[in-house]
Amino acid sequence: MPRIAYVDGVYRPHAEAAVHIEDRGYQFADGVYEVIAIRGGKLVDEELHLVRLRRSLMELRIEGALADAPLKFVLREVIRRNAVVDGIVYLQISRGIAPRDHAFPKAARPILVVTARRTRPVNPTQVDEGVSVITIPDIRWQRCDIKTISLVANVLGKQQAREAGAYEAWMVDGEGHITEGTSTNAWIVTADNQIVSRGADHHILDGVTRQALIALLRRGGYNFVERPFTVTEAKAAREAFLTSTTSDLLPVTSIDGQPVANGAPGLLTQKLRADYLAHVAESA
Ligand code: PDD
Repeated sequence: MPRIAYVDGVYRPHAEAAVHIEDRGYQFADGVYEVIAIRGGKLVDEELHLVRLRRSLMELRIEGALADAPLKFVLREVIRRNAVVDGIVYLQISRGIAPRDHAFPKAARPILVVTARRTRPVNPTQVDEGVSVITIPDIRWQRCDIKTISLVANVLGKQQAREAGAYEAWMVDGEGHITEGTSTNAWIVTADNQIVSRGADHHILDGVTRQALIALLRRGGYNFVERPFTVTEAKAAREAFLTSTTSDLLPVTSIDGQPVANGAPGLLTQKLRADYLAHVAESA
């Protein structure tokens, strides 16, 4: 079955789908995106993704994008045409097509692209043994809360992780605090069993997985706090883990080559992973 992509109002064979060379997403990374998980044919936490999408569009002052109802229809149509039951749907909205000029064009209208694909389930070894992270300086801009398609610093960071044999790179700000991973949020559990996530300031993306987990933590009465934490604190943590749409919740068992605690996934992490997967199964 050929893959189908949606580009600005048209469903096209994936291999032929293309945007204009003067799409501002292509020239300036002037656009936003979302990645939503599909489980059992349903979109996981779709509303939270759409709320974040609207916020990103508002922050970049991109006006006139497709409204939620028709957008939801397109997402479902792309998922259906690609027969994706378990996978991801990707959507991207750029400011539009116009002769290259930094300031907003007067006439352009936003261009929506949607693709969907199957994904393999999370690797059981990564769940059983955990994954490793390295720490690198956070060289990104001051508005990482906006989910823009401008990801080159994240790309360089992830590549550095791969070349170091690590799953992820945790980025570190000027004060020595971990901001987040290149495509995941970072968490630790302290020696006194406090679950810590940096607050959703301008230096991290407020992950939908993070938001869903926080709701579960609050409902479950867990000892949870939002505050920045340092690399030193992370290395001394009892447990560590990461979250994202594509990684769910994975234990982090090594930071910069040093084992986290005894180097095995923490019990609390395993419990939270089970809680999160139950939430996904419920919403799907
Ligand atoms: N990345 N932080 C960054 C920088 C991210 O790019 C992502 C998601 C997250 C986690 O967000 P969420 O829980 O909503 O997936 C945190 C997506 C998956 C990507 O770029 O592919």
